[in-house]
Amino acid sequence: MAVWAILVAAGRGERLGLDRPKAFANLGDEPLLAEPLRRLEACPWVDAIVLVAPAGWEEPAILIAEEEGCGKVRACVAGGERRSDSVRAGLAEVEDDALVVLVHDAARPLVSDEVVERVLAPLSEGWDGAVPGLPVGDTLKRAGADGSVLETVSRDGLWAVQTPQAFVAETLRRAHAGDADATDCAALVESAGGRVKVVEGDPRLLKVTTEDDLATVSAWL
Ligand code: CTP
Ligand code: MG
Repeated sequence: MAVWAILVAAGRGERLGLDRPKAFANLGDEPLLAEPLRRLEACPWVDAIVLVAPAGWEEPAILIAEEEGCGKVRACVAGGERRSDSVRAGLAEVEDDALVVLVHDAARPLVSDEVVERVLAPLSEGWDGAVPGLPVGDTLKRAGADGSVLETVSRDGLWAVQTPQAFVAETLRRAHAGDADATDCAALVESAGGRVKVVEGDPRLLKVTTEDDLATVSAWL
C-alpha cells in the first residue's frame, strides 16, 4: 500500500509574529521545516511526500528538501488561505497509486515513526481515518466574553487531537471535494460520514504556535 504524506507548512505564523512564515522560523540553527521533513523522509512507512509551502516560498522550501536529501519529495506546491485549502492543494499532487494519505502539520516538528505506525494501523481494520490524541486532563469550563463561568463541561471522552492524521486516500479526496473548511482533516471526513478512530498521541507533538513553544520544542531536540 502506497502511503503519501502531505506536509502542510503554508501558514503565515501570525501568532509567532516573525518577519517570515513559521515554517522558516529558527528551530535550533535550522529552519523549523527541516525537522518534520527529515523525520518523514526517514520514516519507513512513508513512500512519498508532498510539501505545501506558503505562496512565494516554494523555492526556499525546495532548497531545504534538497539540503536534507529528501528523495521522497515528489512535489512542492503553494498552499491556500485556510489550512483546508492547503491540504486540497497538496492532495492535487498525490498520485492515483496512493492508498493512504497522511496529513501532517509542519508546526509539529517532532513527528515519530511510532505515532505514524499507530495512526496507520486502524486503516487495515476498516477505519476510514485515524488521528493521534491526548485525553484532556484539565477541568473544562465554558465562560462568557466577560469571563463569567457559565458551566463546567465534562471532560469525559474528550481528546485534544494532533497530527499526523491518516486516511484512506479516496475518503480524504471525497471529503475535500467541495470548498469546506475545518481546523483538521478529520472533521471534514467525519462530516462526510467517515469513521475516524482516535489513537494515543504524543505530548512531543506540541504544535509550535508561540515563541515559548519554539523554545520548548527546541529544548526537547
Ligand atoms: N497551514 C497551512 N495553510 C494555511 C494555514 C495553516 O498549510 N493556510 C498549516 C501551518 O503551516 C501549520 C498547520 O497548518 O503547519 C497548523 O496551522 P497553525 O499552527 O495555525 O499555523 P499558522 O496558520 O501558520 O499560524 P497562525 O495561525 O498563528 O497564523
Ligand atoms: Mg493558523
